[in-house]
Amino acid sequence: MMLFELEAALEFSNDIEGQKGEIEEVLVNADKELFKRGAPKGKENEASQLRGWSVKGRVLNVSIVSGRYVRAPDALLRLRNQLNLLGTKIKAGIRKVEIKKLEVKGVELGREPKQPIKIAFYVDKIEVKGDKADIKFSPSLTVDVIEGGGVDRIIELVVEKAERQEYEGKAEIKKLLWESKTKEMLFDKDPSSELEGINWIRRTHAKGQFVYGRNFTSLVNALREILVEELYKPLGFREMIFPKFEPWDVPKKSGHAKSIYPDAYYVMVPKVSSPKEWEETMDYFRITGEIHKESIMRKVEPVGILSYAQCPPFWQFLEGRVVKGESLPLKVYDWSGPTYRNEAGGTHGIARVEEFHRAETLFIGSPEEVIKIEKEVEEKLTFILDELLDLEVRKYSVIPWWMSQEGEKKLSDKANEGVGTVDFEAYLPYRGEREKSEWLEIQNISVIGEKYPKAFSVKSSRGELWSGCGGGSFERWICTFLAQKGFDKEKWPAEVVKRVKIEDEVKFA
Ligand code: SER
Ligand code: ZN
Repeated sequence: MMLFELEAALEFSNDIEGQKGEIEEVLVNADKELFKRGAPKGKENEASQLRGWSVKGRVLNVSIVSGRYVRAPDALLRLRNQLNLLGTKIKAGIRKVEIKKLEVKGVELGREPKQPIKIAFYVDKIEVKGDKADIKFSPSLTVDVIEGGGVDRIIELVVEKAERQEYEGKAEIKKLLWESKTKEMLFDKDPSSELEGINWIRRTHAKGQFVYGRNFTSLVNALREILVEELYKPLGFREMIFPKFEPWDVPKKSGHAKSIYPDAYYVMVPKVSSPKEWEETMDYFRITGEIHKESIMRKVEPVGILSYAQCPPFWQFLEGRVVKGESLPLKVYDWSGPTYRNEAGGTHGIARVEEFHRAETLFIGSPEEVIKIEKEVEEKLTFILDELLDLEVRKYSVIPWWMSQEGEKKLSDKANEGVGTVDFEAYLPYRGEREKSEWLEIQNISVIGEKYPKAFSVKSSRGELWSGCGGGSFERWICTFLAQKGFDKEKWPAEVVKRVKIEDEVKFA
């Protein structure tokens, strides 16, 4: 059973030693009624109890214990409000509430964690005993944090961290849904090195970034045309332009703020923009030819991240609004710029880049509409990849992208309602035999459910609102295409040949 022990000092504006009687009355009543209010019938003994109190000068010290109902921190907030009502009568109001001690014992973790659990804020110590934990909060815990729900969130986080340990290191849960026929492979090398060799692409000074030449770009445009003509136009999708910078509000709402930090590209802007402020940084470069990063860091402020998942910044378009039924379902796509990932595991040619170009497909409507559109998009993508481009691909049901990007390692618990992600993986012959090598994820498509409309407070005038999205990077599509089909244009599928213009690229002496 979960047990809360709390000691707090409530400091009044005046000496209250003479008002002990009135205060005692409030405390006794609170213990009887206020501390139990809302607890289920028969469970009052698991609600808060006043264990002791004392008054000294302007300070009232209280000690409260509780089980899981009307937890001690909540009882303290109720008591504070009640005492403030006494204000005029005792001519003193509460100025400050200090949490002297807060401990939660017996938090159920559901499993025995293998490693210690740590939380950097407001917590001194987490002691694990079997599948339970005792959390000792630190003196930095304020009543504001309690009021904001911080104690509950810390308890949830401890449980989540224990759960996450269990999934860490385990292989990704995925289920094969479909596979194309085995196709003839026309190439066996890594197309990335080949592309660099013939100057179709050139590596930049940045990690995982390339300048894409004319032939490569022509291939990208061929794929774009195929998508527009074979998927977007027939299904009634129209193009939009999504921002590629996300102010903090976006990752806060999307949930990326829970765990995106090691993977993000950060955006900084000057705190002060007057050139005078920047003189030392300018001088340093003039003198040394180097960038004075330290002085820059002192003068900038992180305002957000570069777009990571591409669709989240779209939601600011509908945020806080009720969408009329006649505007639904809404079907759009964005291909207005790259998105960015700091790839911890390293980059590899065009198969794993940090700046990548993706067609993001987004649809919003009733649950039934979203489920239907996802199927339609999935079918068109399958047709394009398997038949038009003649690629060897497989489809898997995988951990939804928004969950894995939030650090989750399990399938959505809403899977039975139709929520989930399908990944398309492609065979790369240069990596080895089909069954022994890692295939490349080139495209996904998801039913996300109510998550995004809820997070950005978007409603529909006709009822429930869901969304879905899909994304695939052209770097990866082309990597797969060239890895399977090679560089001899004569052997490429007609749909591609008729759309590309391949000429000599720049030659270097
Ligand atoms: N937003 C989705 C993702 O990040 C599809 O592009 O995977
Ligand atoms: Zn998306």
